[in-house]
Amino acid sequence: MLKTSVLLTFLAVTVCAQQNYFKVLIREIDNPAGTLRNGNPCSEFGFLGVGCNTFLGAAVSASGNNVSNSNTLGQTQINTHLETRISNLNVIVSDDQASTADSFNGFDLHIALATDSNFTPESIIDDYVIHVSTDQEQGVYTYTNTRPGTLATTISIAWSTNIAPQSTTNTPEPTTTGVPFTGSTLPPTTTPKPPVDCSEISNLTSGIQTIYPDGSTPVSVYCDQTAYGAYTIIQSRGTVGENITFDLPYANYSAAFGTPGKGNNYWFGLDNMNSISGQKTYALQIDLCCGTKLIAKQIYHNFKVGNLASFYKLTASADISGTGLDYSSSGKDLAASFSTFADYHGPKTKDNCDQFEFYDDANDIQAKSYGGWWYGSCGNNLNGFLYPSRTLNCTVPLEVFDNNRMLGVNMRTTSGPGFDGYDVDLQSYDRVRMALFSFDSTTIDRKDDSFCQ
Ligand SMILES: *[C@@H]1O[C@H](CO)[C@@H](O)[C@H](O)[C@H]1NC(C)=O
Ligand SMILES: *[C@@H]1O[C@H](CO)[C@@H](O)[C@H](O)[C@H]1NC(C)=O
Ligand SMILES: *[C@@H]1O[C@H](CO)[C@@H](O)[C@H](O)[C@H]1NC(C)=O
Ligand SMILES: *[C@@H]1O[C@H](CO)[C@@H](O)[C@H](O)[C@H]1NC(C)=O
Ligand SMILES: *[C@@H]1O[C@H](CO)[C@@H](O)[C@H](O)[C@H]1NC(C)=O
Repeated sequence: MLKTSVLLTFLAVTVCAQQNYFKVLIREIDNPAGTLRNGNPCSEFGFLGVGCNTFLGAAVSASGNNVSNSNTLGQTQINTHLETRISNLNVIVSDDQASTADSFNGFDLHIALATDSNFTPESIIDDYVIHVSTDQEQGVYTYTNTRPGTLATTISIAWSTNIAPQSTTNTPEPTTTGVPFTGSTLPPTTTPKPPVDCSEISNLTSGIQTIYPDGSTPVSVYCDQTAYGAYTIIQSRGTVGENITFDLPYANYSAAFGTPGKGNNYWFGLDNMNSISGQKTYALQIDLCCGTKLIAKQIYHNFKVGNLASFYKLTASADISGTGLDYSSSGKDLAASFSTFADYHGPKTKDNCDQFEFYDDANDIQAKSYGGWWYGSCGNNLNGFLYPSRTLNCTVPLEVFDNNRMLGVNMRTTSGPGFDGYDVDLQSYDRVRMALFSFDSTTIDRKDDSFCQ
């Protein structure tokens, strides 16, 4: 008899405690900063774009409690390998006051990221409160905060509750009052924000997709979905699609042109590069192919393209110094503005830029200008003339160069003087691409030649 009554009491308590719940699933955190909120780097390897080892603190309330001053943040170490993005995080945070909520019309989520489990002020990477106005019992939400001066954290969450929504006859306007709402540039919404890049596309088959680099304007790109993450292809050359000219006026380079696709000729547009590189920290990978052979895979961290006022200045840090965009000859492409022959903003004079004035004295041959680029060293131009493929030999024979005077699709793979002492290699790759990624670059297989096949 006694046993039975204990059991009944226990059941009653259980049923009562189960009455209302509110839970948030933190699915993914992308914190590309590599620096603390105070601007200090998290690691001596911050220059490589590595992230911070991170403790996550989170508190959630659907019952109106102030989560801002919550000092009972459930906390967990989410990252021990300097990752910048943690997919499949799947940490669940509950509102333990959910039973006191009489209706559901939204919730507050407090997220703190720090390198120290005590969340000391000097260890804080990011700390903010999100308010989501909704009366849906479940949903998904992606939020990008703006961290002043440095880089944003993007968080993907889902929620689930059985608290009934407020009666629909007098639903008040959703409000954020009473909650210190730090940083959002987006109105609270239950609609996932449009994909900014290929990593936010849910379709994991490589192909052409629509992304929104500025958050609202659609652009068609080729998304290369790989085992380690998604690449957003912002430039490609090759002999698969239509052979279009890249010898275009400056204004054309601001917008996208060509056709996206593997081995196609495509340009994402400088305005789109400016927008997308303002959204997240990206690394740039340049793949150079000769025939089906991979000649080089060059990686540059913290890829940024400035706005038109800066003439779309390119900045990034090279994995291997002295080659590619970091090739130096009284200037580098990294830190150069974008130029065409008619609208030149190079650090060298136009007369000294081999892409415009290359002059082979011995053979009395002068190159013709072709294609816009960040002419810093004047040794590179992935927008150059596309020579017909000579399988596995991308050296342009002098007699062939002599016929059209075009330097080709060049990218320095060595340091020091190039062909005959000039900046250029007199190589013309027949398939290249510029690909942006935001996953951990240590996972990249640097011998992967699938793009060239
Ligand atoms: C919530 O807490 C924060 C930090 O203690 C405080 O600044 C804010 O005024 C509080 N908000 C409300 C509505 O009490
Ligand atoms: C996924 O993308 C591929 C490549 O663009 C496309 O062929 C396929 O139809 C898409 N699948 C879905 C379900 O949208
Ligand atoms: C270049 O820009 C002009 C003027 O906007 C436009 O008519 C032309 O189609 C563009 N060419 C390409 C290849 O995008
Ligand atoms: C592309 O077109 C140009 C101009 O017609 C031509 O000279 C060049 O050989 C073509 N390139 C390829 C790869 O077909
Ligand atoms: C590639 O072509 C150049 C010039 O025609 C020649 O000197 C070189 O030996 C060739 N390389 C290979 C690997 O065939």
